Amino acid sequence: MEKLKQRILEQSSILSSDVLRMDAIINHQVDPKLTMEMGQEFAKKFAEYGITKVITIESSGIPAAFATAYELGVPLVFARRKKTLIADPDAYIERVPSFTKGMVTDIMVSKEFLSSEDKLLFIDDIIANGDAARGLIKIIERSGATLAGMGVVVEKSFQSGGRMLREQGIKVEALVKIASLDNGKIKFE
Ligand code: G4P
Ligand code: NA
Ligand code: NA
Repeated sequence: MEKLKQRILEQSSILSSDVLRMDAIINHQVDPKLTMEMGQEFAKKFAEYGITKVITIESSGIPAAFATAYELGVPLVFARRKKTLIADPDAYIERVPSFTKGMVTDIMVSKEFLSSEDKLLFIDDIIANGDAARGLIKIIERSGATLAGMGVVVEKSFQSGGRMLREQGIKVEALVKIASLDNGKIKFE
C-alpha cells in the first residue's frame, strides 16, 4: 500500500534498530480515512474466503480490524488483555509476552463469540516476533473455529513472526513490509 508507506515515512520515527514508533498513525492517533482504506485492502485480499468474523487483540489492532469487518459486513471480535486472569470456564485465555512492553499479559476471548462454524480473519497492526499472534491463534484453535488467514498493517520482516506463521501454513498478508530499520533508515521490502 503505497500511501501507507508514504505516511510511515512522514509520520513515524525509529526508536531503535528494531522498533518503529507509529503513534501518529496506528498506536495513539488514527486517521479514519487511511484506516478505512486499510480495511478495503484486507477485505479485497480475503473476499473469497467466506469470512464470518474478523478477530483482533486490543488495543491497536482494533481500528484496522473494525474497518475490515465493516467492509466484509461481518462482526469484529477483539480479544481483551488483562494483567493476569483467573481461570474462567466461559472464556479462552492464553498468556503472551509483550515485545515492546517487556511484560506478560493474558489475552481472553469469551466462548460466546467463537464457534466451530466460524471462519476467522485475524487482523493486527504490527507483527514482530508474533508472540501475541500465536496466543490468539491458540485460542482460535481451541475454539474449533477455522483461521482463514491473517492481515497485518505492518510486518517487520526482519523479525520472525510473519515467516513462522507462514511456515505453519497460515496465509499472512501485510500491507507494508519493513525489511530493516538499521542506520536510522526505514527500508521497505
Ligand atoms: P506480535 O508480533 O504478535 O505483535 O507480538 P510481539 O510480542 O512481537 O509484539 C508485542 C507488542 O509490541 C504488540 O503490541 C506489537 O504491536 C508491538 N510492537 C512490536 N514491534 C513494534 C514496533 O516496531 N513498533 C510499535 N509501535 N509496536 C511494536 P501490543 O502489546 O499488542 O499492544 P497494543 O499496541 O495493541 O496496545
Ligand atoms: Na501494538
Ligand atoms: Na497489536
